[in-house]
Amino acid sequence: MDKKSLMVTIAVLGGTGKEGKGLAYRWARAGYRVLIGSRSSERAVTASSEIMELLEGSTSIVGMSNREAVEQANIVVVTVPYSAHRETLQNVKDVLKGKLLIDVTVPLVPPKVTKVQMPAAGSAAQEAREIAGEGVEVVAAFQNISHEHLLSEDDIDCDVLVTGTSKDARAEALTLVEAAGLTGWDAGPIENSVVVEGLASVLIHINKQYGSTHAGIKITGAHHKE
Ligand SMILES: NC(=O)c1ccc[n+]([C@@H]2O[C@H](COP(=O)([O-])OP(=O)(O)OC[C@H]3O[C@@H](n4cnc5c(N)ncnc54)[C@H](OP(=O)(O)O)[C@@H]3O)[C@@H](O)[C@H]2O)c1
Repeated sequence: MDKKSLMVTIAVLGGTGKEGKGLAYRWARAGYRVLIGSRSSERAVTASSEIMELLEGSTSIVGMSNREAVEQANIVVVTVPYSAHRETLQNVKDVLKGKLLIDVTVPLVPPKVTKVQMPAAGSAAQEAREIAGEGVEVVAAFQNISHEHLLSEDDIDCDVLVTGTSKDARAEALTLVEAAGLTGWDAGPIENSVVVEGLASVLIHINKQYGSTHAGIKITGAHHKE
């Protein structure tokens, strides 16, 4: 556990669900203090107990309401279905100021989830920026990582494209990508999240077409600087 992780508290809104629980597990395992947020504190406590069991007793994870989790965190991660995205953010908007918001949401429009259908703002992350307003840095990340990988011990052979409102915000999110055991790339401004979120529908299509459950992407021809 490094010094930096000791100072960071991560709230995972919708952390009772598939993707959020997986990310929460990975960050708690890396030594971060993680708060599972939910519309129901009871569900959040149950989810945090499940993760603690996997971690064999680590106490760095607790469950509470989405709002309480945001209030206590430095970094807020949103992992809710797109249909719940706006409402979830609006409910915590007033306590988000000064925090980093990492949006994992893919703007899927069921039933045609294999077709890219982006919202008027461009992407879910750009909508999040509009809702959160001034004083909140927004990053989009993890849209192309299937939850199937996250609750396992295995290395994950997929990359994470990180877009966001500033280079510093992207760098902070890239630290969490690495802590989760993944390889991340600074993929540029938040406007580029349109492509990354859209790729999720492409991957869902590939899963359906080829009978897989967790297709992902990898960047080739580039290397991280030492
Ligand atoms: N699953 C994946 O492999 C995957 C991969 C990449 C990205 N994503 C994206 O990550 C997000 C979460 O995906 P998921 O599969 O984890 O979803 P999920 O399990 O269906 O839902 C996650 C959580 O969102 C909250 N939620 C559900 N419906 C809601 C509603 N109507 N209003 C408010 N909150 C609601 C629930 O928490 P409470 O009931 O406890 O409040 C739920 O546990 C989605 O945007 C998805 O596209 C998923």
